[in-house]
Amino acid sequence: MTSLQPLDVVEAQARRYLEERGRRVTEYLAGLFPASERPGRLFAAMNYSLLAGGKRLRPVLCLATAASFGADEEAVLPAAAALEVLHCYSLIHDDLPAIDNDDMRRGKPTNHKVFGEATALLAGDALLTYAFELLSQPLGIPAERQLEMVRVLSRAAGCYGMVGGQMEDILAERSGGSLDDLQFIHTHKTAKLIQASVVIGAVFAGVPAPVRAALERYGLEVGLAFQMVDDLLDVTGTTEELGKTAGSDERLQKLTYPALVGVEETRRLCHEAVERGLSALAEAGIEAPLLAGMARFIVARRH
Ligand code: IPE
Ligand code: IPE
Ligand code: MG
Ligand code: MG
Ligand code: MG
Repeated sequence: MTSLQPLDVVEAQARRYLEERGRRVTEYLAGLFPASERPGRLFAAMNYSLLAGGKRLRPVLCLATAASFGADEEAVLPAAAALEVLHCYSLIHDDLPAIDNDDMRRGKPTNHKVFGEATALLAGDALLTYAFELLSQPLGIPAERQLEMVRVLSRAAGCYGMVGGQMEDILAERSGGSLDDLQFIHTHKTAKLIQASVVIGAVFAGVPAPVRAALERYGLEVGLAFQMVDDLLDVTGTTEELGKTAGSDERLQKLTYPALVGVEETRRLCHEAVERGLSALAEAGIEAPLLAGMARFIVARRH
């Protein structure tokens, strides 16, 4: 087992950690783009989405992994922030009329609703690019480890990762698909970036290969469970709780777990994925209560 403490205690500790470190990430993000300078409109649009709230799960997973293996959290902060910056780009583009056509995000009107589509597209492009600027700045670790972190994020974000998943997600709208198709979509559009968040923290901390392999499995399973919960909440949550329009998936006839196998079966599959993730840690002898707690939080979350 990853921890000798009861699971609810582990989850409560992870929630506190998420809250505290999430605030630190937001503070860091708030210092990045000076809205008073040119191109002020672009900076304003970038800050609008970046500072609108959000759970900060990906950067905090990166910090939690690095900390679990003895690294200094302040030193890894730029890399953690890069994950959130890239995630925010993906949200802005995901909400565009050409993709999910959503009006609300993080409790506020979506970026294109406020700034228009041209600026929203550019704000997304700028955030995506800046993520790599952040990740490649000197971080005080050997260059080859840092290069590996850059490679991990590129792979998770592009055609072999999130963008590839988004493509298949759009193609499956209305036309449906199998459980295999759905697993491909969720793994690529969401789980790979969550996995990368864990792996980047691990590479920063310089963990040995077998530990990294276990963390890769943990990250992918927890990431898959995360998107299953996102699908569930779209059906069972309210717009107010979620900060984004509930029922959006049904409106678009998206291929989701609840649509394909129902709510109860989705819950079961989600718990199974988390258990597989936790077993990967346990089998490698990894004692990381924070990571166990984050996995529990991901299934229990209400938004
Ligand atoms: C929403 O991600 C998009 C998905 C990949 C499901 P989050 O649920 O992490 O959104 P924020 O960052 O908390 O707003
Ligand atoms: C989003 O999946 C995945 C991304 C890469 C942004 P969704 O389209 O289900 O995310 P939400 O529900 O709009 O946050
Ligand atoms: Mg989408
Ligand atoms: Mg969407
Ligand atoms: Mg969704």
